[in-house]
Amino acid sequence: MSRHENTTALVTGAAHGIGRAIALHLAAQGAAIAVIDIDAQGAEATAGLIRDKGGKAWATGADITDMAAVEAAVTGAEAALGAVDVLVNNAAYTVAGDLEHIGLDTWHREIDVNVNGTYHCLRALLPRMQARKQGAVVNIASVNGVRYFGNPAYSAAKAALINLTQSVASEYGRHGIRCNAVLPGSVRTDNITWTIRQERDPDVFRKLARWYPLGRVAEPEDVAKAVSFLASDEAGYITGAALPVDGGLLAGMNVMISEFILED
Ligand SMILES: NC(=O)c1ccc[n+]([C@@H]2O[C@H](COP(=O)([O-])OP(=O)(O)OC[C@H]3O[C@@H](n4cnc5c(N)ncnc54)[C@H](O)[C@@H]3O)[C@@H](O)[C@H]2O)c1
Repeated sequence: MSRHENTTALVTGAAHGIGRAIALHLAAQGAAIAVIDIDAQGAEATAGLIRDKGGKAWATGADITDMAAVEAAVTGAEAALGAVDVLVNNAAYTVAGDLEHIGLDTWHREIDVNVNGTYHCLRALLPRMQARKQGAVVNIASVNGVRYFGNPAYSAAKAALINLTQSVASEYGRHGIRCNAVLPGSVRTDNITWTIRQERDPDVFRKLARWYPLGRVAEPEDVAKAVSFLASDEAGYITGAALPVDGGLLAGMNVMISEFILED
């Protein structure tokens, strides 16, 4: 039997990048997938890819900063696919920047999508999971949530998600609900920030590789595999964890060590 057979997973922000990879990976392991994204067309395209491979999927366009839209999306997902067993809070928004120059609207939008949007999805789904006494939540945070790597509003939001993960784990464990976070480092996607960086330097991912002890940036599937594990029964005694999926980035200062300590 496949790892996620007979489960329904709702993945936010699954129209593109890592969210799409998570949706496809969970579907390949037997889950029915509800795709929620502000990009309705992209969401439907992901659902189409799953159905093309014989899987079950349903998609809708929704802005997770709108609580009513999230509630409607979750109701629609459950009507189409049955009760949601797994929630993956993946949708996110950021534009590169620093504290000195960030616009007020940008700050508010980054906090709104990344923190409030995630909270809206939890608010919609936790009572439903509680009623069924089961559920697994995986929040896609970032290494930015524990160290500063640029993008201050995004970093503050991802730090909040790690703490929110602990709140959910602590309060809802007694209802059979687990909640964990994954902390990716750099992941090869075509999101807006990586597109801008690649336009500036087409070699950016190769240059970044030397910061990673494993010698490469992540592929979206690296994150999807960690999510799949944390969402599964194999992680049945793991809750409240913040798992780096970062090729060792947070483990040490790789460039400093190779340039100043291990130099010959
Ligand atoms: N790519 C990386 O290097 C990297 C590194 C660390 C963490 N992450 C995290 O991984 C996740 C996915 O990142 P990605 O690189 O695939 O980004 P992406 O921009 O390609 O995907 C984000 C998705 O969220 C959707 N979205 C944005 N705002 C939304 C809203 N208000 N309501 C609903 N959907 C909305 C977008 O349409 C998009 O499909 C994010 O949580 C991101 O913070 C990415």
